Amino acid sequence: MNFMKWLSGAALGATLMLAASPSLAVTIGFSQVGDEGDWRPAFSKDMQEEAKKESIDLKFADAQGKEEEQLKAVRSFIAQKVDAIVIAPVVVTGWGQVLEEAKKAGIPVFLADRDVDVSDKGLFVTRISADFNLEGRLAGAWLAAASKGNCNIVELQGTVGSAPAIERKKGFEAVISLFPDMKIVKTQSGDFTTEGGKKVMEAFIKATDNLKGVCGVFAHNDNMQLGAIQAMKEAGLKPGKDFLMVSVDYVPAMKEALAAGDANASVELKSAIGKYIYPVMTGWLKDKKDLPKWVKIPSDLHTAATPAN
Ligand code: AHR
Repeated sequence: MNFMKWLSGAALGATLMLAASPSLAVTIGFSQVGDEGDWRPAFSKDMQEEAKKESIDLKFADAQGKEEEQLKAVRSFIAQKVDAIVIAPVVVTGWGQVLEEAKKAGIPVFLADRDVDVSDKGLFVTRISADFNLEGRLAGAWLAAASKGNCNIVELQGTVGSAPAIERKKGFEAVISLFPDMKIVKTQSGDFTTEGGKKVMEAFIKATDNLKGVCGVFAHNDNMQLGAIQAMKEAGLKPGKDFLMVSVDYVPAMKEALAAGDANASVELKSAIGKYIYPVMTGWLKDKKDLPKWVKIPSDLHTAATPAN
């Protein structure tokens, strides 16, 4: 075969390969909150695996729970001229300036999982996430039904200032406020960690003479609930039997706690959400068509009766 013939054959092959490629070859910077609990590392792993499947070059930055680290990461993505940036923001505040910088540089920003509080919604393309307020309402509705609308509740809040802590609390309170005999008697942040949940529950147990008069525990995530369960058991209490236990995430360790009867219900927050996030991003990068400001991922409530999956 002469060289010219070989060259045109090779060029045709390369063109066909490109045309058959399922998605655009893009570089995406992803600023992740950190690795707290069981849900977040599962989400990070999924984002990395899905990126590989989609031939996306993913630059991953773990902010270790610090907003200042996220701001640094986003600025570094801007300097590297990535095609798009995904942010799962630690807290809702403090984002205006850096989002302006991304906009000026012509780099689109997508929010994943958590929200930001900015007046100009044009600073990001869309947010792809579950409805945290709905999760709080589902937990509240389950507890109202299970306690027949009569329950003194202790609450373990997530990271102060984060979208899930704000919205889950709001949603939960909106439902229990419909029941005159349901109220939150103690509430504190356990920062979405098992250790945090355990520490806060130990303090609640001390302050309430072994949870006297308490009927239920609402934790903004499963890891805090798992820590609370440990603390309650160590104090000789019976979570899941003498106390109604409801939380959010439905991670594997919570499925075990539900099966063992130590917990009663968990609202699922899907962690395998790269398959929702990347198609929205790559679709937008191709056609730049307006998207709704929020692409919602569904949530369901599970109990021990839910078939294992
Ligand atoms: O933003 C979602 C929350 O963050 C999850 O419920 C929690 O486990 C995580 O840390």
